[in-house]
Amino acid sequence: MDIDDILLYDETLFKNIEAFNPDYIPEHFPHRKSQMEALAICIRPALRNGRPVNAVVLGSCATGKTTAIKKIFEMVEKTSSKVICVYINCQLHTTRFGIFSQIYQKIFGHTPPETGVPFSRIYQNIMQHLSSHDQSLVVALDDINNLFYSKNANKIFYDILRAHEAFEGVKTGVFAILSDIEFRFILDKNVNSIFIPQEIIFNPYNKEEMGNILKERVKIGFYNDVISDDLLDEITEYASSSGDLRVGIDLLRISGNLAEADASKTIEKKHIEEALKSTGSINLTYTLKSLSDDERVLLDIIRQSDNDLTAGDLYNAFNKKINSSYASFNRILNKLEFLRLVDTNFTGKGVKGNSRIVILRFDPEEIQKCMNPL
Ligand SMILES: Nc1ncnc2c1ncn2[C@@H]1O[C@H](COP(=O)(O)OP(=O)(O)O)[C@@H](O)[C@H]1O
Ligand SMILES: [Mg+2]
Repeated sequence: MDIDDILLYDETLFKNIEAFNPDYIPEHFPHRKSQMEALAICIRPALRNGRPVNAVVLGSCATGKTTAIKKIFEMVEKTSSKVICVYINCQLHTTRFGIFSQIYQKIFGHTPPETGVPFSRIYQNIMQHLSSHDQSLVVALDDINNLFYSKNANKIFYDILRAHEAFEGVKTGVFAILSDIEFRFILDKNVNSIFIPQEIIFNPYNKEEMGNILKERVKIGFYNDVISDDLLDEITEYASSSGDLRVGIDLLRISGNLAEADASKTIEKKHIEEALKSTGSINLTYTLKSLSDDERVLLDIIRQSDNDLTAGDLYNAFNKKINSSYASFNRILNKLEFLRLVDTNFTGKGVKGNSRIVILRFDPEEIQKCMNPL
């Protein structure tokens, strides 16, 4: 087809293309009942004039953390006006002012002026409103790791959690959402004494669960018979081996688009193959971008090694570049494994886990390409 045809072609495979958007909230949310219950239990005291329980929501990418928070907040707001629930995307809002502007907006329906109003005034308005309306506040800080770079996190936790010291009777809580395992090491000791959270773990979906979710998404997003069961299984397989449900959803969207551009009424294997070329590297680039310098150094050593290394060998090589204790090396290695960049297998020999074999889960060249994108 030429360009005009592509743009004007009005047949579509998509019944609801929004179902494949990253911020789409599905009505049906299977496999997350216990996590939703745990969130509800944290909010419950606030519905009865108590203080909400703080929580840390932990889990790797695309395990439904953001969706769960948004759904539970929606449910709370439908049930009661006693709790003000504010969802904040910390990729977009990283400053104290930015975050409190969001809270202000939720309460008053408009953002405060960007200039001329001191932070303390905004803060006071918020807390006085809560106090006089006898409402409590739950702030969800999603992808909170973004606040750690600017070191704003500690102050923001203080601002929210110690509000009751200056404003009597104000009840506040924080849900910190994060796809990282090193959270506990990052907050100040002083914050750790006021933020004692309930941990809510979003474990990775297994293949069958991913299959169910993707099947449902296909039903919502595509017309009937756009994709065969076999090809959907294939997409599930890719999503499951990358450990990232979003890979599956992206593959569906991109291959649907490619099929459409091809004037095909169904998604064919070639569309998936072509879609794969883009999603694999997008996800990898995204993951690699989130690594710290030390994590990159370690990954680089693993990438450049010709044969599989034991954790002990790897530690020696790492220690030559970055003077590091075995414990902090181990934490970095665990992080790489958590992000599913490497696998570690026990050989059964050795002590302290240093005889684990470390295996890169990606093609070394692919890693290099994504680490240094052009
Ligand atoms: N249990 C589930 N049922 C249906 N869709 C889900 C489920 N879990 C995650 N998703 C979908 O996967 C994608 C990623 O979910 P999200 O909540 O953004 O994950 P996270 O915040 O953990 O990275 C979204 O498109 C979401 O709709
Ligand atoms: Mg999220």
